[in-house]
Amino acid sequence: MVDLDPLTGEPEQLRSAYSCFPSGVTAVCALSGGRPRGIAASSFTPVSLNPPLVSVCVQNTSTTWPRLRTLPRLGVSVLGAGQDTTATRLAAKHGDRFADVPWQATPDGGVLVHQAVLWLDCSVHSEVSAGDHIVALLQVHGLRSHPDRVPLVFHGSRFRQLVEV
Ligand SMILES: Cc1cc2nc3c(=O)[nH]c(=O)nc-3n(C[C@H](O)[C@H](O)[C@H](O)COP(=O)(O)O)c2cc1C
Repeated sequence: MVDLDPLTGEPEQLRSAYSCFPSGVTAVCALSGGRPRGIAASSFTPVSLNPPLVSVCVQNTSTTWPRLRTLPRLGVSVLGAGQDTTATRLAAKHGDRFADVPWQATPDGGVLVHQAVLWLDCSVHSEVSAGDHIVALLQVHGLRSHPDRVPLVFHGSRFRQLVEV
C-alpha cells in the first residue's frame, strides 16, 4: 500500500491509479453564442433512474464548463468505437474543436455528436464541489440509444476496443 497525504494526495500516483478503472468517453456539448462548445469527459456515470440523473466530473480549471453550466440544455453523447479522434478533438487546447466533428443541435441548444452510441438531452440539476473537480449532476430529459453500436473505451490513458469474452 502507498500511504497518501490526506490533503495533497499523490497526484501522479492517483492519476495512474484512477486510470486502472476503464470507462467510456462522452462529449458534453451545447450551443453558446450560436457556436458549439464542449468537452470530452470520461467521468460520465449513470446515477439515478427516478428521477433520471447522470453525472460528470469537471476540473475546476475548465474554461468551457463555466459557459456550459449556464445553458438551458446540454447534449451528452457517448462516443462509439472509432471516435477516438473526436474525443481528442473535443479536448483540444487550440483550434476549432468541432471542425471535423459532425454534430446536430436539439431545439433547446444541446449539441449531439453523430455516430454516438447514446444521446442524452440534459440540463444541469446541481453541482457539488469536490476537491479539484466539480461533480455536475445532469437531469436527463430525452434519449436516443443505439445498443447495437460498440462504445469507445478509455483505460490506462489510452483508447481501447471492447472485446467480447
Ligand atoms: C478521453 C478524455 C477524457 C476526458 N475526461 C474529462 C473529464 O471527465 N473531466 C474533465 O474535466 N476533463 C476531461 N477531459 C479534458 C477535457 O476534455 C478538456 O480538455 C478540458 O476540460 C480542458 O478544456 P476546457 O478548458 O475547454 O474546459 C478529458 C479529455 C480526454 C481526451
